[in-house]
Amino acid sequence: MISFEEIQAIAETGLTLGRDREFFARTWSTAPTLYEKRLRALGFTGLGHVLDLGSGMGQWLRALAGMNEEVTGLEYFTERVAVSSEIIRRMELPNVRVIQGPAETQPFADHSFDAIFSYSVLLLTDYRKALAEAYRVLKPGGRFYLNTNGLGWYIYNMVDGHNSSENFSARDMAIDTLANTIQYFATGQHRPGSSIVMPKALTLAELEKLGFKILAVDDEGKINLTGESGVSPFFPGEKYGHEAVYEILCVK
Ligand SMILES: C[S@@+](CC[C@H](N)C(=O)[O-])C[C@H]1O[C@@H](n2cnc3c(N)ncnc32)[C@H](O)[C@@H]1O
Repeated sequence: MISFEEIQAIAETGLTLGRDREFFARTWSTAPTLYEKRLRALGFTGLGHVLDLGSGMGQWLRALAGMNEEVTGLEYFTERVAVSSEIIRRMELPNVRVIQGPAETQPFADHSFDAIFSYSVLLLTDYRKALAEAYRVLKPGGRFYLNTNGLGWYIYNMVDGHNSSENFSARDMAIDTLANTIQYFATGQHRPGSSIVMPKALTLAELEKLGFKILAVDDEGKINLTGESGVSPFFPGEKYGHEAVYEILCVK
């Protein structure tokens, strides 16, 4: 069994940005049982082939792998693909693979997956294209979980400077996000990797337009279909009177 120190050493050598190393430490130092409980509450167990869309540092991959037959991670940034692949290899999880590619043009055939899980990713994509791709690669009847950020998250970051450090300014990120959002909705242009505000009503409308049926909508970490105990949110659902981080479970 690989230790936390060994996992961290892989990240130290593989991630060049300080803010990525901080993000890595936050995700991998969270108890694995918290991720497992969240997945059980969403019904992401006993499934065939699951896609983790925007798999990042790989902590959800590990949890998904223990509960489902096969897991594929799709991740845009090559350093994260390399680091998470190495961790998966060292953890000896033969049912997981990580592929580099964008959510907007996914390198998969139609109807490839039984379910898609996407945690805090769509806000960094041209989300209308990414949602259409999720619909295309999902099998009919397959479930899709996503969470993403509304305006309240960025107001909170501007006011409170959440998780700011010498490597990351939450205020600059929030200001940048507001500028990106205006550009995205005014022109349809999205710069890869840049974040935008995703108003919940627009996300729901887009999903329904594509043909998804909405099963549940709530603040991040609140959907609990199975009555799982000890399920806890990682982020606030509302800040300063505005939606912050919300989640949606839907089916094709
Ligand atoms: C906030 S992180 C979340 C990562 C992971 N899902 C988690 O819960 O820790 C967002 C991830 O989306 C990835 N990403 C950004 N733009 C993407 C795109 N266009 N296609 C696929 N992944 C993307 C980033 O590299 C990053 O790893």
